Amino acid sequence: MAALLLRGEVLSFSGDTPPDGESHPGVNHLPDAVVRIDDGTISAVVDAHEYQRDGGDLGNCETTQGLIIPGLIDTHIHYPQMDIIGSYGSQLMEWLDSYAFPAELAYASQELAQLKAEAFLDRLFSHGTTTSLTFTSVHAHSTDALFSAASKRNVRLIAGKVLMNREAPAGLCDGPGDGIAESAALIERWHGQGRLSYAVTPRFAITCTDEQLTRAGELLARDESIYLHTHLSEHPNEIAYTLSLFPDATDYVDVYDRFGMVGARSVFAHGIHLSDREHARLSDAGSSIAFCPTSNLFLGSGLLDLARLRDAGVNMGVATDVGGGTSFSMLRTLGEGYKVAQLTGQNWHPLAALHTATTGNARILHLADKIGQVAKGFEADLTILSPVADTVLGARIRDSKSLTERLLAFYMLEEQAIERTIVNGETVFKRSAA
Ligand code: GUN
Ligand code: ZN
Repeated sequence: MAALLLRGEVLSFSGDTPPDGESHPGVNHLPDAVVRIDDGTISAVVDAHEYQRDGGDLGNCETTQGLIIPGLIDTHIHYPQMDIIGSYGSQLMEWLDSYAFPAELAYASQELAQLKAEAFLDRLFSHGTTTSLTFTSVHAHSTDALFSAASKRNVRLIAGKVLMNREAPAGLCDGPGDGIAESAALIERWHGQGRLSYAVTPRFAITCTDEQLTRAGELLARDESIYLHTHLSEHPNEIAYTLSLFPDATDYVDVYDRFGMVGARSVFAHGIHLSDREHARLSDAGSSIAFCPTSNLFLGSGLLDLARLRDAGVNMGVATDVGGGTSFSMLRTLGEGYKVAQLTGQNWHPLAALHTATTGNARILHLADKIGQVAKGFEADLTILSPVADTVLGARIRDSKSLTERLLAFYMLEEQAIERTIVNGETVFKRSAA
């Protein structure tokens, strides 16, 4: 396959610490660079003048006026919930009953699950997202459908069949033993195949019996490369109900801990209302919280205290949580995260936010050596941002000299900012000409 040569401004991040300014050593900013891609891998990222000086022909490059960044990573999203974004009138527990469960019941149809799996990937790409950690539905065929679609398009994706066997409509409940056996079979079929990995996915403790959680924990313990993906401490009503169902547990984190689910590959969505003890335990275990600002605002769940999490040494990623979340756009998610920080008297630097959505999210998925950077040796998942002509924000981006200001304006421009998305070296989305 011929090499792809892209010329443009490049922004990427290295290191674990989210940057607090443009001069931070982890900010890798090249105003004019050539990115070379061979067989799905980034083989070089060099300054354009150096490239020319070393005999390279800039005329062979595809040149963009946009900003080349690592493909965005979403660390918590529900593929069967894409059609219920923005559902009116309720908070978490009622929202699940009124909207999420009915939507997921429809995935009993294998045909629908397959159609939606393709549509889901298209939506990720048109919003600049190249990897996601994804809830499917309780139906094993929905997980097969998503892995199969991702495999065809060479997408790096982590997903898992939802485990749930109580407190939900009968059509969404695993029968005795079935969910675990199906999860084990899905692991056999998909985990480690190409760019795919499996996450054991109990919906949350409320919808899983002790027995199901015990067996899920055992399944997880069989292979340390498998992930654990669930919800934690999202809404006060959910927390109270959880503790009433598990009266012996010290707190919500302890509920999962008792089943061997608090480890370095555990990603817990939300984690808004945790105690100091819970923070300390998550930090010790190396577990991660996925910050879901659009969902937390939309469902009225609460404002995550970013500084408290950081000071407690808990890893934090960022995620859309579609369909409780209101957009597939990680850019919009970062913009809403900025506002959550504002409301808690903090500042989430736009560079820190993009670090979190790229190499930071890769790190919590233990993939930081493979994705999340525009750098030599990384898998060629890239997103190009550029302003849309004739928008107020577009003009602001073009006029601004500051990278920080431009990034924040890109967040406000949301999915309109996505010029092109590249997965494994192939263009999977290109904005059509206006
Ligand atoms: N907790 C349990 N299930 C869900 C879900 O589907 N969405 C959100 N936001 N929280 C949950
Ligand atoms: Zn969720």
